[in-house]
Amino acid sequence: MKPRFSTQRLILSLLIILSLYSPSLHARRVYLFISKDDFNDAASSSPEHEPAVFDDPMRIPDPGSWSPLFDPDMNPEAVNGSYYAAVSELMSAASKGNARMMAGAAAEIESAANDGDPHAQSVLAFLYGAGIMRERNEAKALMYHHFATQGGSFQSKMALAYTYYRQGMYEKAAKLYAEIAKTGVKSFLTSKDSPVVEPIMIHDGAEEDKEVLMNFHGEEDESFKMLVKEAEEGNAGAMYRIGMIHLLGLRGLRVDHAKALSWLSKAADKGEPESMYLLGEMYATGVVCVERNYTKALELLTLASEQHLYAAYDRMGYLYLNGYGVDKDYTKAIEYFQKAAENDGAGGHYNLGLMYLKGTGVKRNVQLAIKYFLIAANSGYDLAFYQLAKRFHTGVGLKKNLPMAAELYKLIAEYGPWNSLSRWGLESYIRGDVGKAFLLYSRMAEQGYEVAQSNAAWILDKYGERSMCMGESRLCTDAERHQRAHSLWQQASKQGNEYAASRIGDA
Ligand SMILES: *[C@@H]1O[C@H](CO)[C@@H](O)[C@H](O)[C@H]1NC(C)=O
Ligand SMILES: *[C@@H]1O[C@H](CO)[C@@H](O)[C@H](O)[C@H]1NC(C)=O
Repeated sequence: MKPRFSTQRLILSLLIILSLYSPSLHARRVYLFISKDDFNDAASSSPEHEPAVFDDPMRIPDPGSWSPLFDPDMNPEAVNGSYYAAVSELMSAASKGNARMMAGAAAEIESAANDGDPHAQSVLAFLYGAGIMRERNEAKALMYHHFATQGGSFQSKMALAYTYYRQGMYEKAAKLYAEIAKTGVKSFLTSKDSPVVEPIMIHDGAEEDKEVLMNFHGEEDESFKMLVKEAEEGNAGAMYRIGMIHLLGLRGLRVDHAKALSWLSKAADKGEPESMYLLGEMYATGVVCVERNYTKALELLTLASEQHLYAAYDRMGYLYLNGYGVDKDYTKAIEYFQKAAENDGAGGHYNLGLMYLKGTGVKRNVQLAIKYFLIAANSGYDLAFYQLAKRFHTGVGLKKNLPMAAELYKLIAEYGPWNSLSRWGLESYIRGDVGKAFLLYSRMAEQGYEVAQSNAAWILDKYGERSMCMGESRLCTDAERHQRAHSLWQQASKQGNEYAASRIGDA
């Protein structure tokens, strides 16, 4: 069977469910307020073709990603090339704090970059940007990121977009982030690598709440073992939670679709509504590990909705909207979306927004669509941010506002598979490999991830020499370390990280 993945509905419900796992550790949520003045009446009458961005799930390549080095069964062929050999050496050097080895790795990267390997160019840009085994040089960093972006490196595209964003060049930033976001949203569940990576702030976790970090010790984790015991004793809620953990690869466990399906099915057999809903979604999309079966999907969703799981109505609406397994019926679709929306189903609001945006089964009304998107966004429905970003970007329905567009696109872009480094960063950190964790967070920091900026800075400050910070030609001098930490805190602070602000006295 060919794995087919991804619908926005499933993904976002998963993201929302995810946020329940360790809310205190998550990056702050964005709350969006749009005033009357932001609306743009004039443009709303212009007919606009709205391509169905998300109806065409695809596998998102993330070439040059460092993930295969951590999860070799992800992509065994990929890790043989000279690029991966060099990155692997880079990582070992960071672990061991071996500057000579780092210099060797950097030289290999440079040589591959000069031979035109875009991924090596991207890493070389990173070395120049951070001042690792190279004199810090932002112009060179930018230049290599440009080359790498042209060669298809998403890591560099992220870094470039963030650079523009940071410098207030919002038109360029919005354009790049829009492209990344469009690609990224399709990948939420298409990646075999853990698709949804929780941004964990380690300075909250490591010191104050060791238990939370312990939760990332995979199957060995005590609370996970407890959960398994409860499930084996017949607790349907526990079965569901284990299913989720396996499905998304949470808590340091690898993604295991077969186990996920097995636990979710067991829970659903016991009438556990969340599981019935999730399985319904999976059968509706043919996602991950099941063969698409609309009949079965509708059965499960109906059962879930009968238990007042209103999100299920939203999904049923989607089936009627598209005529999947049923006769196409816009009236019924809208009725179901409304049922979901009336019961705080963010997806219902989102889908109503789409219907009004496109004029499907209703009279086209962009203003109303935007109001629905806004409600959905503020309930944490990320795709709604994408829709709003587009309105701000194009000036259709909302007054053109490029800084806002860039910020909202950025939010979505950061969900792309390139965020998987945060998983390996955290794992390295938990295993006590502070040097590697620092390198990984530094790489993400350059791509604009606020949490990674703060984590990298925190490691530098807390672990000093143990961070194996690599400077221009050897381990960082105190001055280099302080400069780098300050720059990282500053960037995180500018992005609204209050802890960072307090660290550098911006609060
Ligand atoms: C990569 O290395 C593995 C193990 O060393 C080997 O099995 C595989 O054939 C290699 N692939 C390529 C493309 O060289
Ligand atoms: C789809 O699900 C229905 C209801 O559960 C079942 O009767 C049918 O055999 C399934 N179809 C396929 C192709 O598996």
